[in-house]
Amino acid sequence: MKVLIIGAHGNTGRRVVRLLQEKGRHLPVAMIRSPEQKGVFDEMGVTTVLGDLEYPVDHAVRGCEAVIFAAGSGPKTGKDKTVLVDHIGAIRSMVAAAMNGARRYVMLSSYRADPGSGSSIRHYHRAKGLADRFLATQAEVMPESLDWTIIRPGGLTDEPGTGRVSVRPGDSDNKTSRENLAAALVTALDEPSTIGKIFELFDGETPLAEALRTLA
Ligand SMILES: NC(=O)c1ccc[n+]([C@@H]2O[C@H](COP(=O)([O-])OP(=O)(O)OC[C@H]3O[C@@H](n4cnc5c(N)ncnc54)[C@H](OP(=O)(O)O)[C@@H]3O)[C@@H](O)[C@H]2O)c1
Repeated sequence: MKVLIIGAHGNTGRRVVRLLQEKGRHLPVAMIRSPEQKGVFDEMGVTTVLGDLEYPVDHAVRGCEAVIFAAGSGPKTGKDKTVLVDHIGAIRSMVAAAMNGARRYVMLSSYRADPGSGSSIRHYHRAKGLADRFLATQAEVMPESLDWTIIRPGGLTDEPGTGRVSVRPGDSDNKTSRENLAAALVTALDEPSTIGKIFELFDGETPLAEALRTLA
């Protein structure tokens, strides 16, 4: 499959692209915002496409069978960008995927994502929760629907990936290494048990493939 990685130049996105490239089973297409980010991917032999979630991204999705969403407005931008990127931009990419022939959509969400969040960063948790809710219910409103998966990691770290995770809330200290997360986003693509599932993902003790295969 051709897999579009949205947010490909990000800390998690780059790991996702690298992993897809290493595994060789699917063909990554890196969606980037700036031509200056192209060199990293050229060196890896990975195709790039320019796209910004604040604008239509249909051209980027066209020709891809799957999407991995690894983008985010980040904590340094205003709350307007949380809405425009994490909420509306994410939904825009889901509609673009469904309407342009992609069937598979894997979303990097966040633990505590919730449309009714009262957390200290509720604008972010609400935006992620609303985007997740659209993805989980898009079949009710879209003429073409997606096989979706929503993965909700804890606080992201740059610790080496252990390949061992927990998908049970409360099993860990709510930390998730970006390497473990990238591996989960890539593994989920081909694991049918993850379709139609929302689950948390923390560093833990269960081998990743087993944890995803045996999701409740
Ligand atoms: N940090 C945490 O502890 C944590 C916990 C749970 C979930 N998460 C989620 O995980 C996501 C990924 O984390 P990360 O550390 O890999 O993030 P990151 O390094 O900040 O990467 C985010 C990527 O999103 C891209 N992006 C931002 N606005 C965009 C837009 N309008 N259109 C297209 N792409 C856009 C950025 O592009 P540029 O490279 O051009 O800036 C960047 O490549 C976060 O955004 C967050 O939603 C984070």
